[in-house]
Amino acid sequence: MSLNRGADRPPFTREDVEHGGAMVHLMALVIENARLQEEQARRIRELTALNRRLEEAQVQLMQSEKMAAIGQLAAGVAHEINNPVGYIRSNLGALGEYLQALLGLAGRAEEALGALPPEHPARRAWAEACAAADLDFLREDAPQLLAQCGEGVERVGRIVRDLKEFSHVDEAQWQEADLLQGLASTLNIVHNELKYRAEVVRELQPLPPVRCIPSQVNQVLMNLLVNAAQAMEEDRRGTITLRSGSEGPWVWLEVEDTGCGIPRERLGRIFDPFFTTKPVGKGTGLGLALSARIAQRHGGRIEVESTPGRGSRFRLWLPREGPPPEAEGEAEAAAPGARPVEA
Ligand SMILES: Nc1ncnc2c1ncn2[C@@H]1O[C@H](COP(=O)(O)OP(=O)(O)OP(=O)(O)O)[C@@H](O)[C@H]1O
Ligand SMILES: [Mg+2]
Repeated sequence: MSLNRGADRPPFTREDVEHGGAMVHLMALVIENARLQEEQARRIRELTALNRRLEEAQVQLMQSEKMAAIGQLAAGVAHEINNPVGYIRSNLGALGEYLQALLGLAGRAEEALGALPPEHPARRAWAEACAAADLDFLREDAPQLLAQCGEGVERVGRIVRDLKEFSHVDEAQWQEADLLQGLASTLNIVHNELKYRAEVVRELQPLPPVRCIPSQVNQVLMNLLVNAAQAMEEDRRGTITLRSGSEGPWVWLEVEDTGCGIPRERLGRIFDPFFTTKPVGKGTGLGLALSARIAQRHGGRIEVESTPGRGSRFRLWLPREGPPPEAEGEAEAAAPGARPVEA
């Protein structure tokens, strides 16, 4: 910087020079200050980003621990229960045949003894034995009991299959999946949570296969279903309506509830990690944060519409073809619950 004075004016005085020096010093300070401020803003940006990454890592850790626990439980249950269920099923089949044989024998004995005179001691003894054993009742009840046991065993078998299907114990990989099948098994898993709070209405349209990591999509559905159930008033059973559809390259699944709804000013926060309005122990505020992340990593999104006092509607959109190839690796590696079960 230079300061010149016209030739027609007196030269700078000592005082002028001192003033000039002070001004230069002041400007240097201002410049330094601006630089420091910029530096500070950059650091704040860095720290905010770091903080966000830390929060994400924490969410992932907590959720993958949760999923690992569920997945391991599923794998353990499937393994432990499958074996006894297998032999109970086959023994029940054999028992049914034995029972038929025994009842057939009893019928034959009855026929043979029926040919004897009514006062014949053998016939009387048989009649007494039959009465004591309540043979008529046994004939009617035993096959029914066996049939019920058979149904029970089939049900246990189905639950085990659902658990396996839900957590995809065998393959936590990208694959072409039937989302409605995933929804059905997820519904069975959360059945207990839903049954007292809501009636589930299915208005489902068939969907084409979707490229996804099924265990993760099931997890999103589970979070949406449990939220819907938890949104119901304590003493009034509501309705949860499930819908599906496809539009061009997209498919969608929707969970609508007749619960408490979400006030407008809260809508912007529900996907934030740790945002919850539920009491301690009931909600961690991770369900939607994680669901949104899973949707995003699948190249999709979650839409929400809500009317306080009337209910909410969450819609999961996914591209049929999955995300672009380079994003798949990232989702697999980074998404919590991608490998929930190393059982
Ligand atoms: N269907 C819904 N109806 C009304 N409010 C909802 C619904 N779904 C989510 N919310 C609101 O969004 C908040 C965040 O939901 P989110 O699933 O992320 O966490 P959470 O259910 O509280 O806990 P978590 O899912 O971790 O057990 C909830 O606490 C609730 O206030
Ligand atoms: Mg939740």
